[in-house]
Amino acid sequence: MPSEHNTTAERLDELVAQLTLEEKVMLLTGRDFWTTWPIEKIGLRRLLMSDGPSGVRGEAWDERDPSLNLPSATALAASWDQDIARRYGAAAAVEARRKGVDVVLGPTINLHRSPLGGRHFEAFSEDPVLTSNLAAAYVKGVQEHGIAATPKHYIANDYETDRFTASTEVSERALRELYLLAFEKSVTDAHAWAIMSSYNSINGVTASENPLLETPLNSEWGFDGIVVSDWTGVRSIESARASQDVAMPGPDGPWGDALVSAVRHGVVPEDAINRKVRRILLLAARVGALEGFEPAVTTPPPGEDGIAFVREAEVEGTVLVQNNGILPILGNVPRIAVIGHNADQARSQGGGSATVLPEHVVTPLDGIRAAFPHAPVEYSMGAVVHEGIAELPLGCITNPDNGHPGVRARFLQDGREIFGEDRRTTTLVWFGGNAPIRDADTLEIVTRYVPDTSGPLKLGVGAAGVSRMWIDDTLILDVDVPVGSDDLGAAFLNPPSDGTAIEVVAGSPIMIRVQHDIPKESALAGALSFGFGLLPGDIDAEQLIADAVATASGADIVIVVVGTNAKVESEGYDRTSLSLPGRQDDLVAAVAAANPNTIVAVNAGSPVELPWREDVAAVLLTWFGGQEYGHSLADVLTGLREPGGRMPTTWPIKQDDVPVIDVTPVEGKVHYDEGIHVGYRAWLKSGVKPAYEFGFGLGYTSWILDFVEVPETVVPDEIVSVAVTVTNTGTRAGKQVVQIYAEKPSSAVDRPVRWLVAACPVRAESGETVSTVLNVPSRLLGYWDNGWMYEPGEYRLHTGFSVSDLPSTDTIVLKP
Ligand code: BGC
Repeated sequence: MPSEHNTTAERLDELVAQLTLEEKVMLLTGRDFWTTWPIEKIGLRRLLMSDGPSGVRGEAWDERDPSLNLPSATALAASWDQDIARRYGAAAAVEARRKGVDVVLGPTINLHRSPLGGRHFEAFSEDPVLTSNLAAAYVKGVQEHGIAATPKHYIANDYETDRFTASTEVSERALRELYLLAFEKSVTDAHAWAIMSSYNSINGVTASENPLLETPLNSEWGFDGIVVSDWTGVRSIESARASQDVAMPGPDGPWGDALVSAVRHGVVPEDAINRKVRRILLLAARVGALEGFEPAVTTPPPGEDGIAFVREAEVEGTVLVQNNGILPILGNVPRIAVIGHNADQARSQGGGSATVLPEHVVTPLDGIRAAFPHAPVEYSMGAVVHEGIAELPLGCITNPDNGHPGVRARFLQDGREIFGEDRRTTTLVWFGGNAPIRDADTLEIVTRYVPDTSGPLKLGVGAAGVSRMWIDDTLILDVDVPVGSDDLGAAFLNPPSDGTAIEVVAGSPIMIRVQHDIPKESALAGALSFGFGLLPGDIDAEQLIADAVATASGADIVIVVVGTNAKVESEGYDRTSLSLPGRQDDLVAAVAAANPNTIVAVNAGSPVELPWREDVAAVLLTWFGGQEYGHSLADVLTGLREPGGRMPTTWPIKQDDVPVIDVTPVEGKVHYDEGIHVGYRAWLKSGVKPAYEFGFGLGYTSWILDFVEVPETVVPDEIVSVAVTVTNTGTRAGKQVVQIYAEKPSSAVDRPVRWLVAACPVRAESGETVSTVLNVPSRLLGYWDNGWMYEPGEYRLHTGFSVSDLPSTDTIVLKP
């Protein structure tokens, strides 16, 4: 045990000195998918890491151990509210504690550079300042509970195509002013205890070896936590010479014995190893995993009701972008029509490693039915949106081994069962946990299924590789489904599917047995994804639309929920189109023509084209709404709550208008040639009007900006305090987001037309006037040129409610 009188640093050094080189190197690579090695002799227990960021999955991907499913990061960002971000981080930390997790692998703070980015839904915004403020608040919210947050992915990982190999070619100025800013604030303001390095290269050097891990992260910002790799992102001994501390997952990996030998041969200095170990021990001390050290937080603040928070956070992030007065729906509504595949099969979260398994999801249909108990609510699907396997409903399947709802899953080795478990879903992922994926050669699953309708039923499997399916002992499917790509996301987290149709009779049980040959070679050895269930049958798309129109015509109010699906927005690949999948555009156009009282809720994590948007009564952007999605939507529809969101990212009218869109590497490189002109900065430069501008959003009340007071001068390093007074001029209480944008007239350097420097939500009762102070760090007036440079002279500060609704302009002089 380290002696009591020494400083923490000295005591950690003493512990490092007690370890052999082999022990130290062992500690630098994970023990398995999610944990690090314990070392009993120094009182170190394992550290458990888990995704994140919109909830915490826990050690295994298992529906029997569900997690709180928060709304997507885009919904959080749309709240523009640091208090919500802090509570969101705290909600994740409470989940982490419940699940024994020490390190939450989030927030994802890459930027929305292009709307095609596959993980757009998982990141906050196109703007570095909004992203920074929310990132720091999220990190604080997590760490106040004694759990480490891990802002990711460092750095310039804003697209998914060829993500393991592509190099982002980006100027130092754009890195500093845009892509690094949220990481900087997460470290200097929120003191993040961990950072995750990315898969891609930056200017030709892969992230886990990149000098950016040292400068600015350590040398300038004073980071003292661990840099953990993205999963399999450490590829070399060289990365051990860089400031990359931990390689995940383990136990295999490029370090191990090779690193011990590299140290022995003087290729990697032992001091570099010691520094990494010391950082791991400091992290362990902070989270209470190292005996003899007081954890950073001994009494975490009380957690709040997670389910109520999920509902509130989604309301705060819902952006009302159009309203002819139909919303909120007040008074009695005799007949309501709800239309859309996503109304019944809502997306509460995006796909990929961020997936958590909620106990329940309140769909829009559920939420609307609950909110209007006295109105008949009629539902029509209207268009098929979802692709691939849909799991068999739990209420229709029985595990033959125990008679309970679910399936029996067995792992076989040469035909002999070596492991078995009772599960409650037909779409299964093993990514951590006890199942012997590496030892077994076959997965076998059985269940008894009772169909609820008669006729043809398309059954299938969702897994890359060889699978077979028997119905009542007759082989109906024997397929080898090709894997489209070697990416973890595409092949493992969103597998391809194949199936065949059989005839069934409602109420007559069938015994389903499926087998899957566990691939020996896999991008992620020891992990497995396998699903079986229903595939969309042959559907008459015209008839679906006609049925929806008939349903809509007879209703007083129509609520259409359109959206994306798991094949469109997920990890591991980028989008190719901003159109809504399937026939949804035709559906909305037809429904709106049949009923003028059509309200559309958009259930997508990232921008989609809405060509009919001016032909409907109201449009709400609801993102991926979390597990209480339907209740949040109903709260907004009924006016129980005001939609609190503002655009965190610009949405285009059409894809061709988007000024920065490219996500596809050419000869292995993605060139960020637009430099600092990303998002609304690029839109302003191009002069093209988007559908919904950055910062824009309506509420249920109206506002005026009464008064703005800006100091006359500022010097570098000072904070400019801007006093703003606004009045709620409408008839109900509401929220507005005050935004300040800077402009530098006749600048000697390239500048954005204007750029966000401060924002904050304000709330007021009807008729109430409120004042607030927004702080503008003068750093945000500077620019990067081998250091932060300050151009003296006049700057304009524009204040208002979106990037182009800026009624007040003041001048401030930056003095040298
Ligand atoms: C993702 C990370 C994630 C990790 C572990 C990677 O594929 O890029 O965001 O934390 O997997 O699941």
